[in-house]
Order: sequence, then structure tokens, then C-alpha cells
Amino acid sequence: MNDEWIDIGDAAALSAQPLQRHNAGTIEIALSCRGGQFGAIHNACNHVGGPLGEGTLDSDYVVCPWHQWKFHRVTGLGEPGFEDDRVPSYPVKVEAGRVLVNVMAGTQRHRAPHEPHPLARPIVRADGPVRVAGISTTAMDSKAPRYSGSDDLLASSLAAAAERGCDTQLIKLNELKFHACEGYYSKAARACTWPCSITQMHPKDELTPVYEALVHWADVIIVGTPIRWGQASSLYFKMAERLNCIQNQVTTHNRVMIRNKVAAFIIVGGQDNVQGVAGQMLGFFAELGFQFPQFPYIAHSRGWSAEDMENNVRDVRNSKDLHEGAAELARRSIELSERLLQTIPAEKLERGGRKAHADRHRAG
Ligand code: FES
Repeated sequence: MNDEWIDIGDAAALSAQPLQRHNAGTIEIALSCRGGQFGAIHNACNHVGGPLGEGTLDSDYVVCPWHQWKFHRVTGLGEPGFEDDRVPSYPVKVEAGRVLVNVMAGTQRHRAPHEPHPLARPIVRADGPVRVAGISTTAMDSKAPRYSGSDDLLASSLAAAAERGCDTQLIKLNELKFHACEGYYSKAARACTWPCSITQMHPKDELTPVYEALVHWADVIIVGTPIRWGQASSLYFKMAERLNCIQNQVTTHNRVMIRNKVAAFIIVGGQDNVQGVAGQMLGFFAELGFQFPQFPYIAHSRGWSAEDMENNVRDVRNSKDLHEGAAELARRSIELSERLLQTIPAEKLERGGRKAHADRHRAG
């Protein structure tokens, strides 16, 4: 079998690029050339299949373009300390100015066991009362906190949930140090992973409690946001972009991670555009797979001309209606959750929305 050499092209032309993706018969390889010496390893990365030939060279290591795993460009072994994680490597030779690769004599791929991230565990609802997570998205100086209308109303929602016997938790994005989404999905659909690539690559990233609450713990999510320039807060959007990985699992793996869960919203602005903010939040959480109670948000805004913010603070703080409205929002969200948990089998939910279509452009 060792005479299965495949001519893949002109040596001078192929040596012009230090690293490239190339075909050798039916096998896709990452062909490298350094100091005039060619190396050939399989193109698919051991992690989640990134195209090694589209990566970069770090000395003699091919760096995967998706999440930067490294493999020796000639032997296919993982970088020092991770040699056991290896991709197939193939003999290469140059004869009469042509590059020949023997794909039949390749080494075997070996995936070293990696401890799965705790978030990757099966999604199983533990028995117990309805669990309600409040997510505060307002930004402020935590050493000198100010009054926040959306936080205050969120507190009223959680108090009503606790009164009803629910377990509750409050997550303040302002207290979490987390990275912005770095656009792995824009590299390739499958480069966006669950758990989030950033969560796996940066152990100090602090968005994990949000993922834990949304995917594993909570039955009901209540998100509170101020209105900033007619939109939800910057922290809300920073979180939302990092939640792409939950939505993308539907596209890439036909995996619906949010089932029988309810979302509701509290929107408070000194100025306008409650409906625009609500529309975005409803659309986004619908795409994640959440369901909504009747009248899924409460809101307060005094309008475009109301620049006297101190009066806005007073209005929210003292409004019995608003605080009772926040409590009612929690109650009807919990009632819906109770019905969902009792009546709808989890398996019944299918693809929907723009994710009705599978990722038909998926490579290999
Ligand atoms: S590092 Fe290669 S696919 Fe993730």
C-alpha cells in the first residue's frame, strides 16, 4: 500500500504558501512548507473539525483558525503537553519538481479525553418548585451604586415569586466580568460551540451563571433593562450576543436547549421607545426557544421630553401600580411555567422560526 503516492502539484508553486488547504485524492490535507520542507496532516482539527489548512503556522505547529489548538505540521502531534491529541500525518516527498503525498500511509487520529465543561452536562430539570431567575442588565458604578428603576421592579417580581414558594436568584450582569462575543459563528457555523467557545477558552470569563440559569436551572427568566438611546442596555446586548451559542445549537446540531421555559421583561426608561425595546427582547428570546405569558412585559417611560430624571426615579420608586405590575408579571409567568411543566412533553418541540432550516451549507 505504500506506493499510493498522489501527485498534488508543482513544488515551486506549492512552496509559495507556508500553509494551505489542499486535496490529496479524497483526503483534505493541511499542506505546510517551511525552510523548503513540506509537511502534510489531515485538514480537520481534533477539537470540532476546524480547517487546519486555513490556520497559521507557529514555528512547526499549525494553529487551528477556530480556537487555536496546535498540531505539529509534520507529525500531526498536539503541541507539547498535548502530544496525545494527534491528527493523521502523511508522508510527503518531492520528485521531479512535483509534490507527492501518500495518504494510504497516514498515521491514526487520536483524541485525548478532555474533561467536559460542567455546562455541557445533559439538560435535566431537577424536581422542585418553579425556579425564577432575575437578570439585571443595568450598568452602574458598583462601588457607588445608584437607584435603578428596572432593578427595583425586578426585585418586586422576585419577591412575588418567593412569596409564591418559588426558588429565586438574581444575577446582575454589572457584577460579572465577561468577554464580548468574538464572532466565532462568523468564522464558521460549527466554530460556535456549546458551551460558548469563550467560556471554554477563558476559565475566568464570568458569564457562566447566566448560562447555568438559562439552560439548566431556571424555569422562568425575568430580564430587567433600562432604555438607552431607544434600545436595551449595552450589557443586555453584550449578554445577548454571547447567547448566540444557545441559538446556534439548533442550526448546527438540531439541538433545542431551551424547552418549556418562560421569559418576561421589565423595561424602564426616562425616555422613549418601550415598544422597540420590547420587540427586540421578544424576538430574541423567542429565537432562543422561550415562551411568553400573556402580556409578557411591563414598562415605564415618561416620554421624549422628560429630561428631569430625578422625577422619573421618584415616579418609579413610589409607583404602587408599577411594583404591583412587576409582581403580577412574575405571577403570570410562573402560572404559565407550571402549566408547561405539567402538560407539554419536552420532546414535542421542533425546529421553528428562522432555524426551521438546517445548516445546509455545513462542510464535511
Ligand atoms: S481549535 Fe480547531 S476546531 Fe476548535
